[in-house]
Amino acid sequence: MLKKSLTVAMVGTLMFCFAMISAGVSFAQNTGPATIILKTARARKPAFFPHHKHQSFLKCSVCHHTMTADGKQGPYVAGQEKACTTCHNKSFPNKKLNGFRKVGHARCRTCHKKMKKEGKPAPTRCSGCHRKGLK
Ligand code: HEC
Ligand code: HEC
Ligand code: HEC
Ligand code: HEC
Repeated sequence: MLKKSLTVAMVGTLMFCFAMISAGVSFAQNTGPATIILKTARARKPAFFPHHKHQSFLKCSVCHHTMTADGKQGPYVAGQEKACTTCHNKSFPNKKLNGFRKVGHARCRTCHKKMKKEGKPAPTRCSGCHRKGLK
């Protein structure tokens, strides 16, 4: 009897681990700050970003990626999330993506516009992200 319930518990644990792995979540994963105030060095228009809220419905790879040796977009690698401006700064070769405003709007705003059409409460107005009083 005891042996049987132990086996059941072990199978349960294994199934849980498998579910976590297939969901792409490793146990020690650093999910970063819960909320972030995104801003450039000039900080003209800081943007509010509820990071963990977005993680509840999006994969990490929607926003995070790496760069290949030949300068192309590489796949998402857990543990290698970096500030967007490490790459997307003035010296980035693609001029459509060479700053925080450009990639912020390309990634965040584009999705919000799409979501709004689908009736989801994603803010599309400037003040929805660039809230008053952020520093
Ligand atoms: C909707 C976009 C989005 C999603 C989805 C997302 N992140 Fe982020 N994450 C960001 C942004 C933006 C930053 C801040 C980058 C910056 O400061 O330039 C960030 C920062 C981080 C940081 C801190 C990086 C540093 O600068 O040290 C970690 C760690 C991180 N994210 C992990 C994750 C993980 C793990 C997931 C998935 C479970 C995830 N993120 C999902 C957008 C996202
Ligand atoms: C390690 C360098 C690196 C980091 C860090 C990085 N990117 Fe990129 N990103 C690239 C490269 C390389 C490309 C491909 C550029 C091209 O196709 O011209 C790219 C492309 C993009 C694109 C256009 C293609 C697409 O997927 O829609 C967006 C938008 C983008 N990045 C947003 C972000 C955001 C937001 C962050 C921070 C959460 C970020 N990137 C962090 C290197 C990086
Ligand atoms: C792929 C789609 C997608 C991307 C990319 C995305 N968002 Fe969102 N965002 C949403 C959706 C959907 C909601 C509504 C969530 C809800 O409340 O149900 C939302 C909600 C928000 C809210 C309001 C949430 C609140 O609690 O007040 C803010 C602010 C926000 N996003 C900022 C950002 C910023 C900044 C980025 C880029 C770093 C970003 N989002 C990227 C889909 C996205
Ligand atoms: C979905 C979120 C979102 C919306 C909506 C949005 N932005 Fe942004 N914006 C960002 C992000 C993310 C950045 C990059 C981080 C930062 O500087 O705030 C940014 C950056 C900027 C910057 C650069 C700030 C600097 O210091 O250089 C300006 C200017 C700007 N946005 C203006 C606007 C205007 C005007 C609107 C409305 C027409 C708007 N944004 C709507 C997310 C948003």
